[in-house]
Amino acid sequence: MASRGSILLTGGAGFIGSHVAVEVAAAGWTPVLLDNFCTSERSVVARVGEVVGAPVRCIEADIRDAQAMRAAFGSTPMHAVIHLAGLKAVGESVEKPELYHDNNVRGTEVLLAAMDEFGVRRMVFSSSCTVYGMPQRLPIDESHPLGAINPYGQTKLDIERMLDRWADACIDRHVCSLRYFNPVGAHASALIGESPLGIPNNLMPFVVKVARGELPELGVFGGDWPTHDGTGVRDYIHVVDLARGHVVALEQLDSMHHDCINLGTGAGLSVLDVVHAFERVNGVKVPYAIGPRRAGDAAAAYADASLAEQRLGWRARLGLDDMVRDAWAFATRSAC
Ligand code: NAD
Ligand code: UFG
Repeated sequence: MASRGSILLTGGAGFIGSHVAVEVAAAGWTPVLLDNFCTSERSVVARVGEVVGAPVRCIEADIRDAQAMRAAFGSTPMHAVIHLAGLKAVGESVEKPELYHDNNVRGTEVLLAAMDEFGVRRMVFSSSCTVYGMPQRLPIDESHPLGAINPYGQTKLDIERMLDRWADACIDRHVCSLRYFNPVGAHASALIGESPLGIPNNLMPFVVKVARGELPELGVFGGDWPTHDGTGVRDYIHVVDLARGHVVALEQLDSMHHDCINLGTGAGLSVLDVVHAFERVNGVKVPYAIGPRRAGDAAAAYADASLAEQRLGWRARLGLDDMVRDAWAFATRSAC
């Protein structure tokens, strides 16, 4: 089948980008990855190719390098950009706010300048529910007040505002910012998934390391939250559902100016819901101990996911059992 055109995926070797590349290819487009591998491994590129059934091109470059970005756009006409490149560790962003601004915000400026030079007018951007700050009401819809509670969140807000201005400056520019809730899981092939370096910050990779015996127990951050079992509630979304959301957004970009759309399931699950599902589905133990709350955490955050359904015809199909099964299959296969 002839390709429908090339799509540049910045951060395409990362956890989410690798899954988006697979869905982009399945929809008949040619994904071109661009990554500096600061938080991912080069071997991911070949594994994406294995899932897709054909080699996938990857340009090793930093989005802040204007010359490299010009070379990337000069090498192949790009129908659109899916912009996933970014640093995302909240704690690190507090220690190194300038690095986060430079990498995420200035990086996006350089990327947009290169797109302008080559007449590329469409972008899907990886935003985050972090732009809503501390939840003021639940579920969180797109009209919820915006605010940053850490430098990482500030970069996402700054980029959304930059994309407003970019879209406003020219009538035929089209942008969709997808505000992800909590992406987890892995591709069913177990060839790609999430493998953070060092001790993970996020719940699912931590649970996986405990189940493998690499860490002694999960510290649950608070057992006295006003939730159904006292532990924190989030909207976990399977990364393959999330990746499909990018393709439907890509295909409807021309009817958008700059639309901001939540990608979540709409269901709130607690830390213990995740732990118990992980143990039941995978037949492994996840020792845990309830400890103090983590600074800056909210009791609960989950999406009103109805705009994605109305606007994109998208809804999550996979549930918690799929998420914990696929996260474990990836972790145990990649150990071989
Ligand atoms: P990831 O760290 O696995 O992937 C990010 C990729 O971007 C990595 O491959 C990294 O090497 C690359 N990258 C970073 N800076 C770069 C630069 N300057 N130039 C080129 N490449 C660069 O993270 P992920 O979970 O796949 O996240 C992808 C995007 O989604 C990020 O923008 C993140 O902020 C956003 N997001 C993630 C989550 C989440 O929980 N995973 C939630 C909301 C939003
Ligand atoms: N949790 C634990 N123990 C852990 C890790 C997490 O109990 O070791 C709990 C947290 O307190 C929270 C839930 O598990 O209740 C989920 O925590 P994560 O760190 O996985 O996810 P968050 O929703 O707190 O944060 C994530 C990203 C942020 C992003 C935010 C909103 O890590 O970068 O979603 O997008 F800003």
